[in-house]
Amino acid sequence: MRITIVGTGYVGLVSGTCFAEFGVNVVCVDKDHEKIRKLRKGVIPIFEPGLKELVKKNIKEKRLFFETDLSKSIKNSSAIFIAVGTPSRRGDGHADLSYVYKAAEEIAKNIGKYSVIVNKSTVPIGTGKKVSEIIKKINPSANFDVASNPEFLREGSAINDFMRPDRVVIGCDNEKAKNILKELYRPLFLLETPILFTKRETAELIKYAANSFLATKITFINEISDLCEKVGANIGDVSVGIGLDGRIGKKFLHPGPGYGGSCFPKDTLALVKTAQDYRSPLKLVEHVVNSNKKRKQSMYKRIIKAIPKTNNIKTVTILGLTFKPNTDDMRDSPSLDIIPSLLKKI
Ligand SMILES: NC(=O)c1ccc[n+]([C@@H]2O[C@H](COP(=O)([O-])OP(=O)(O)OC[C@H]3O[C@@H](n4cnc5c(N)ncnc54)[C@H](O)[C@@H]3O)[C@@H](O)[C@H]2O)c1
Repeated sequence: MRITIVGTGYVGLVSGTCFAEFGVNVVCVDKDHEKIRKLRKGVIPIFEPGLKELVKKNIKEKRLFFETDLSKSIKNSSAIFIAVGTPSRRGDGHADLSYVYKAAEEIAKNIGKYSVIVNKSTVPIGTGKKVSEIIKKINPSANFDVASNPEFLREGSAINDFMRPDRVVIGCDNEKAKNILKELYRPLFLLETPILFTKRETAELIKYAANSFLATKITFINEISDLCEKVGANIGDVSVGIGLDGRIGKKFLHPGPGYGGSCFPKDTLALVKTAQDYRSPLKLVEHVVNSNKKRKQSMYKRIIKAIPKTNNIKTVTILGLTFKPNTDDMRDSPSLDIIPSLLKKI
């Protein structure tokens, strides 16, 4: 099978490389010429453990290719994945879908035989429908279906997450499209990975609901840690004490400077906006968004308080600039709030 991945960032590059490792012929496309030039030489534009070796191996075995132009590859592709960015739209916090729609337009102009177009980008409910309308409008004779296949990999452990995920979610109503995706994910099916088939809109919502739930867990433990500081309780022990309850679970119960990164901040906000649009407000997630923002903005005060007053401090060392270990992604990292505030105050 041959597939095309449009957008060769954290998700597109990892997914494309892992599909190639499954034995699929993969063409990763990106409009960033410099990125593609480097990738063709085996130079990886991001830091992700294990990725370099896997990319090199699959280039060598002639299953993984890199292009700047999708017209060549998509004509023979059974599946075309959209894995472009969906950042917060400037001004209103909705997801900016301009990259997704642009990719849909480019696909429409070049699509050949029947393909399933798969949205791997995190997109609000109804985006699959819109992508389908864009393609039909530009190319009324195009033979395709649009599916949603949100990605749950985490930067820093992306390869393992893709190869051994907790689940794969596929939102799709059409049998032909479903069969192509079943075939693609066959190696995971053989590992007994739960593969959940849903309506397209449901799959779109699952991704936002999952990220918002995890962000809520982080915010909860951060607020409990504030209370611990006031009452003299130990937050580490509280985390363990509640995390050992199987219904709660240990993960995402580590207090810190607020969640950051390229997903949680924009996805929680986008879900809040979608819920408001549909007049079904998610007050809990609205609180999480505001609480996390305040935490990131006020974290510098804790640092200043911790610096002994008697010392004439000239230098403060910050260990850890990214939002978590094992990634070089600086998007929305709490350090981007903390460091400028410290520079102003110290
Ligand atoms: N980064 C993560 O950990 C993660 C995890 C799960 C889901 N997601 C979601 O996956 C999507 C992609 O995220 P990312 O972090 O990989 O983004 P990214 O910014 O790292 O990569 C996006 C890439 O798409 C390219 N691109 C944009 N428009 C294009 C076009 N028309 N044709 C070809 N290339 C194009 C850009 O040049 C860029 O290289 C987002 O919706 C994100 O929310 C990200």
